[in-house]
Amino acid sequence: MNILVTGGAGFIGSHIVDQFVGEGHRVSVIDDLSTGRRKQVHREAAFYKLNVCDPRIEQVFQKERPVVIMHMAAQMNVRKSTEDPVFDAEVNIMGTLQLLKLAVRYGARKILFTSSGGTVYGEQEVFPATESHPTRPLSPYGISKLTCEYYLEYYRQVAGLQYVALRLANIYGPRQHADGEAGVVAIFTQQMLSDEQPRINGNGFQTRDYVYVGDVVEAMRAVFVHPVEGIFNVGTGTETTVNEIFVRLKELTNSPCREIHGPAKKGEQLRSVLDAGKLERETAWAHAVSLSEGLDETVKFFQQQKRRRFT
Ligand SMILES: NC(=O)c1ccc[n+]([C@@H]2O[C@H](COP(=O)([O-])OP(=O)(O)OC[C@H]3O[C@@H](n4cnc5c(N)ncnc54)[C@H](O)[C@@H]3O)[C@@H](O)[C@H]2O)c1
Repeated sequence: MNILVTGGAGFIGSHIVDQFVGEGHRVSVIDDLSTGRRKQVHREAAFYKLNVCDPRIEQVFQKERPVVIMHMAAQMNVRKSTEDPVFDAEVNIMGTLQLLKLAVRYGARKILFTSSGGTVYGEQEVFPATESHPTRPLSPYGISKLTCEYYLEYYRQVAGLQYVALRLANIYGPRQHADGEAGVVAIFTQQMLSDEQPRINGNGFQTRDYVYVGDVVEAMRAVFVHPVEGIFNVGTGTETTVNEIFVRLKELTNSPCREIHGPAKKGEQLRSVLDAGKLERETAWAHAVSLSEGLDETVKFFQQQKRRRFT
């Protein structure tokens, strides 16, 4: 099947591309390489270095005729979204709208969208949150993701375009870049392996729901092969504090660093954890990689990268 992956040079996108190329699909990638890396894109995938807002992406649709679109290209830095909400909306909302318009024009069947379970609910009232939890995003990034969900539903109604929006929790694993906002695992790991001193924001008791990237690939596969539509959380249902992540990574990296705390980040969400029961019931997906296994894999990846840099 012809599959178009936007953001396919990024952390999650590149793993998705590997999976679907491996299954024998014809995969094309649109990515402007703003945070992604060309070398991460599977060599059998067709690559187009383009911004999703660029009208020339129509030529990709003309040539590739994708049946399924996996839309992962996004401005995903929460802090940047508060500093420049216009830029965030341009990439995340206008880019998505442009894709939806072309998807309909060129007869795509389904679009899979990566939304953000860590931001669309805002400060949670119920733990873990199901998809019916009130949505009160506290950042322009969360607002832009939620807005796209409304547009997906609009295009389903007016044009019959099938969609799945996966509200992802905090994803970590190999290839995550260490300069992202959500990537505390990548940030701490890289710092510890480079003998730098990490700093925990605030008291470190803020919690997140950490999901290994391999489980996200499986979630994407599940909503690709099952005839499901709508909004689904992707999480583990387990909260982990930043302090706990710090301690586990310190052990795995054998780092001599100390536990140092800095000022709390203004407006940072305190607790976030998702109930993925709907996805489990409708597709039989279940998260398979424990936090210990996932952190172990992630540290091994960054250690390998470091060795490669020095050989
Ligand atoms: N990592 C997480 O914890 C997490 C959580 C929730 C949702 N998400 C969503 O998952 C998706 C992938 O995130 P990721 O963690 O892999 O981030 P990433 O930054 O590694 O990937 C995003 C990719 O999109 C590309 N891109 C950005 N703007 C673009 C544009 N205008 N045109 C074309 N390409 C563009 C980047 O170069 C990059 O390759 C994003 O939509 C993000 O919002 C991620």
